[in-house]
Amino acid sequence: MTSTPKKTLTLKKKPQSSNEDRRVRSGARARQAQQMQRLRQEDTPTTPAAPAAQTPQRSARITKRAKPPTGYAPTRPAPPAPRKPVPVQGPEIQARFSAERHGRFPVFAPCPQGLEEALAVELQALGFDQVSQGRAGCHFVADWQDVLRANLYSRLATRILVQMSYAKIQNEDELYELAYQTPWENWFGPQHTLRVDTSAIRSPFQSLQFANLRVKDAICDRLRDREGARPDIDTVRPDAKVHAFLNEDSATLYIDSSGESLFKRGWRHHKGDAPLRENLAAGLLALSDWDPNAPLIDPFCGSGTILIEAAWIALGAPPGIWRPFHFERLRDHDAKAWQDLKAEARANIAAEIEIPLVGCDINPAAIEAAQANLARAHLHPNTIRFETGNALAIQPVAAQGWIVTNPPYGERLDETDTEFWEQWATHLKRNFAGWSVNLITSDLDIPSKLRLKPNRRYPLYNGPLDCRLFTFQMVPASNR
Ligand SMILES: C[S@@+](CC[C@H](N)C(=O)[O-])C[C@H]1O[C@@H](n2cnc3c(N)ncnc32)[C@H](O)[C@@H]1O
Repeated sequence: MTSTPKKTLTLKKKPQSSNEDRRVRSGARARQAQQMQRLRQEDTPTTPAAPAAQTPQRSARITKRAKPPTGYAPTRPAPPAPRKPVPVQGPEIQARFSAERHGRFPVFAPCPQGLEEALAVELQALGFDQVSQGRAGCHFVADWQDVLRANLYSRLATRILVQMSYAKIQNEDELYELAYQTPWENWFGPQHTLRVDTSAIRSPFQSLQFANLRVKDAICDRLRDREGARPDIDTVRPDAKVHAFLNEDSATLYIDSSGESLFKRGWRHHKGDAPLRENLAAGLLALSDWDPNAPLIDPFCGSGTILIEAAWIALGAPPGIWRPFHFERLRDHDAKAWQDLKAEARANIAAEIEIPLVGCDINPAAIEAAQANLARAHLHPNTIRFETGNALAIQPVAAQGWIVTNPPYGERLDETDTEFWEQWATHLKRNFAGWSVNLITSDLDIPSKLRLKPNRRYPLYNGPLDCRLFTFQMVPASNR
């Protein structure tokens, strides 16, 4: 796969409540202990394991079938006795299947465009095999336990798509055939609700909507033929999500193991003004080479995304520790293995962070939102100092450190801001010598407005906005 799949709908689900007893302490250490206890608390699976699945096919020559009926039952019917699949006749196409529970899967992890290299480094550090960069994402090979680990630990991926089948195809009937022959029943059945999304690059198909419908029909027909009933379609809160990716001559079908996008860590409630996505914020910290043992300031912090992300990185808190995932709803979900994986992750969360993390914003409502988000991120109020203030007045908290920030830009700026940037550059030169200043902006003229030469510039997309992360190393006046 070479592109980011289309945005899919997200699930809004609250994190699980804690069952763990809390020890009563007082003072600063008590607050730290409480904070860590909050981060480490166990949650419990919400979805019971579904019935066992049949053994999948590994690869097959697939033949075209007579078109089955389409459409979905409005309510789930009582399942009739399973029928035998209809024997098929027709032109053959070559397909590869990887839908066996205990096998290894090609995986595609989409990410914000521009973070591919950083994501590849992250996936390699997590120990995944055959990591390679694609367009707006990375490929790797994983077993199902690795899929769980990728969901739990990746800070940069947007979702984890597990490849179920692939074939060269020429038309929608062959797409139908590929989807029909894929052993979905290993993962979900008529008891599960389903959503299918389709994205494409250079696909010759006239209508993506129609292609999407064919995949949906094929999956539902297969489950009806095998298990006697079709799954219901639910585009808002599906149990199972399938993603079809089409290019000029092939189709790849994935199960979306994540569900809600992975940038939703489960803590954002207060959005503030133009919040960054959490995985982009983590990417900015990675590209800025921020050292998690060094001070960090965000002078335009808005709802606090960069600093909250940084606090979780510094604590070693896995980004997925507080949220649900779609793999928990699929058949044969191993709830015990998942709980064990999370328990191991919680045990590795540091007890406290010593470094100063400071955020300021001129808008008091943004600071309120940041503080509320901090609490929802299970962090003690003292972990990050959020204060209302002007970026022109913020002072360094150490001789050296990092500024990583997402200043206002685009439609939020007016012409008078050239003056503002000049003033801010003067402030940085006077007060932040020795600091690394990193700005993500869609205003590509920022370096000339600041009259500073960037050491690095990384092309990045913030949603649809073509941006750059500019890195400036502030040097003492005598060295300029
Ligand atoms: C693009 S938003 C930052 C969003 C933030 N990264 C987040 O994820 O929520 C820019 C922020 O800069 C703030 N701002 C604008 N002018 C400022 C100034 N002079 N000093 C401090 N903050 C300012 C705005 O109130 C806004 O919250």
